[in-house]
Amino acid sequence: MQDLAGKVAFVTGAASGIGLGIAEALAQAGVKVMMSDIDGDALAREVARLAATNADVAGFRADVSLKAELQAAADATIARFGKVHILVNNAGVGGGGGYGEWSDASWDWVIGVNLMSVVWGIEIFGPLIEAHGEGGQIVSTASMAGLVAAVAPGYNVTKYGVVALSEGLRPALAAKGIGVSVLCPGFIRTRIMESARALPERLAGQVALPDPDAPQTEFARLAAHAIQNGIDPLYVGELVVEGIEGDWPYIFTDTNFEGGVDLRFAAIKAGFDRIRGRTPRH
Ligand SMILES: NC(=O)c1ccc[n+]([C@@H]2O[C@H](COP(=O)([O-])OP(=O)(O)OC[C@H]3O[C@@H](n4cnc5c(N)ncnc54)[C@H](O)[C@@H]3O)[C@@H](O)[C@H]2O)c1
Repeated sequence: MQDLAGKVAFVTGAASGIGLGIAEALAQAGVKVMMSDIDGDALAREVARLAATNADVAGFRADVSLKAELQAAADATIARFGKVHILVNNAGVGGGGGYGEWSDASWDWVIGVNLMSVVWGIEIFGPLIEAHGEGGQIVSTASMAGLVAAVAPGYNVTKYGVVALSEGLRPALAAKGIGVSVLCPGFIRTRIMESARALPERLAGQVALPDPDAPQTEFARLAAHAIQNGIDPLYVGELVVEGIEGDWPYIFTDTNFEGGVDLRFAAIKAGFDRIRGRTPRH
């Protein structure tokens, strides 16, 4: 999608980290941005900060794991800006718990925020983008954890889902003038390790949250260190702007996990090789 200036975007998880970086980069490219987040205070602060740079931005508080709130955010976007061209399904949470730790509520949380919000975002905003006939772009934030399963089961399942949804819908939506991109970041300097702060009240007490006083696992320690020293979210936003302009199917932020993807594909290929030329015994 070329000529972004004057277009309208809706961005979820826009009060922090990658979503904020995307909102800021879009605003710098002249896009009008409706920023949305569950954290109303942080959202108000960041909307005011960007507005002070003459960016045409507004904020709408919504919990994306509730379809009705996402619908209300879409209504508010149309009421404020008249139309919408770019949907950025970015809100997401780490966590969900590993084997022996997860609960139905933790699966509900991570699937609701990371995956169902993307399904509903496309369902609600797709027809709004189609309606004006000017074309548009849908960008959904998955992760390298959507291509290599090595983090936490719930997180991986949702991120693989976002990749599958984006890959699968790309041809159908291209025919309607809507590009579909999936953003698969590596380690980015954000507050993802503090996702517990965004646990919806209705799930309070039902999800096992990381105990700040408990000793960290080696994996958690390494991940926290990598994120603290990760890529600047505004740079990710700049890549997303370029990805929208070029209709990139995959938006990567770095090549750190390329070897992991190669290993996964090699294991899949070995699965085919194992049965190549075989015939049934009976
Ligand atoms: N930071 C990384 O290294 C990394 C890597 C790969 C993918 N990601 C993905 O990037 C996306 C953004 O995360 P981030 O790293 O910027 O973390 P972050 O915690 O800094 O920002 C996430 C934002 O989403 C909001 N949010 C959480 N639950 C919500 C809900 N129910 N409704 C609406 N908003 C909600 C939070 O309030 C927060 O403002 C996520 O989808 C995450 O999985 C992050």
